[in-house]
Order: sequence, then structure tokens, then C-alpha cells
Amino acid sequence: MTASANPHDDIATVLITEEAIAARVRELGAEIHAAYPAGEAIVLVSVLKGSLVFVADLMRAIPRNVEIDLMEVSSYGGGSTESSGKVRILKDLSGSIEGRNVVIVEDIIDTGLTLSYLTTYLEGRNPRSVRIATLLNKPARRLVDIPVTWTGFEIPDEFVVGYGLDFGEHYRNLRYVGVLKRELYASIIGEI
Ligand code: IMP
Repeated sequence: MTASANPHDDIATVLITEEAIAARVRELGAEIHAAYPAGEAIVLVSVLKGSLVFVADLMRAIPRNVEIDLMEVSSYGGGSTESSGKVRILKDLSGSIEGRNVVIVEDIIDTGLTLSYLTTYLEGRNPRSVRIATLLNKPARRLVDIPVTWTGFEIPDEFVVGYGLDFGEHYRNLRYVGVLKRELYASIIGEI
């Protein structure tokens, strides 16, 4: 089965509405602001492409100066819905994070392998601190323990899309987070 012309038609259920996301992002912005003394620099490191929408809203919910940097990573060796744990950096930071408070902004933590690699990588660049803010957390599939400071929503073990998250580069522009109809990816995970 291939993607429909209208992305809404491929969604089985809406898991988190646009309104619920907006309310939670406002809370997270306030919490991040309160966590650091005034005057200390904060750099949001957005992990592309999935956290693009989240970071755009989150940065505007933080009532102080923040810097933004972008990294793009891909895990390779796994299928489209499975993480392999081997991470390749497609785009590195463009600025220094030395002495700064880094908040890694992720769309979703699944096995935790991507963030485990990324945290170690960024800590090697001598920041003042490294913390993680993720929109979604799927604790059921965690393979490595990751200390997550800010979580938007804990979700069940479903493959979700929307608000930046994709399947085959589609669905990122949905304004909500929804569960993808299983028949769209079942052939890839070997069910049909
Ligand atoms: P991890 O290394 O297994 O934690 O994988 C994290 C990455 O896998 C995320 O940044 C997403 O790109 C992708 N991912 C994991 N679960 C989902 C999902 O349900 N929908 C879309 N992408 C997902």
C-alpha cells in the first residue's frame, strides 16, 4: 500500500491533538527557561529532520535569548521503522558549544541508541551541560538508559507520524501526532 494523496487518510488515530501539543510545548519552554540561571547561554541543538517543527515552536516558548544549531544524523543498517544503533553524522554543528548549556531537541526516543551516541558526541565538545528535551518518548522499546530531562508525552509502542515525524519522508506537515495505518508499513516490517 502506498501513501494517499491526502496524508490525513493514512492516519488510523490521532494520538495527540494540535491543541495538546501547543499547550505542552508552552509548559516545556517555561521549564527550560527556569532551569538555567539568567545570563547563561542556552543552545538548542535540533536533531534533524524530525525535530524541526518541535524546535520551531519550542524556541518561541522560551522567554529569553537562545541559540539554535542543527545536526542531522541517520541510523543505518536498520529498516525504515527500526533503529540499528549505528549512527552517521550527515550534518555537524556549525558553531562551538564550549562552555554553553546544550539542550538536545529530539522528536522521539525509541530505542535510545541515537541519543546515546549523540550525547556522548556532544559531551566531547566541552559544553557546560547537556540535557535532552524530547517531544515523544516510547519507553517500551528502550535498549539503552538515557537520562531525559524534558518529555512532552509518553506514548505506547505504535509507529507515529506528524508534527515533524515521518514515514518515508511523508506526514511531517501534519499538525497533530497520529498513528500510521499499519498496512502502510506492515510489508516493511515483514508482516505482509
Ligand atoms: P532511536 O535511536 O531508536 O531512539 O530512534 C530515534 C529515531 O527513530 C527518531 O529520531 C525517529 O527519527 C525514528 N523513530 C522512532 N520511532 C518513530 C516513530 O514512531 N515514528 C517516526 N519516527 C520514529
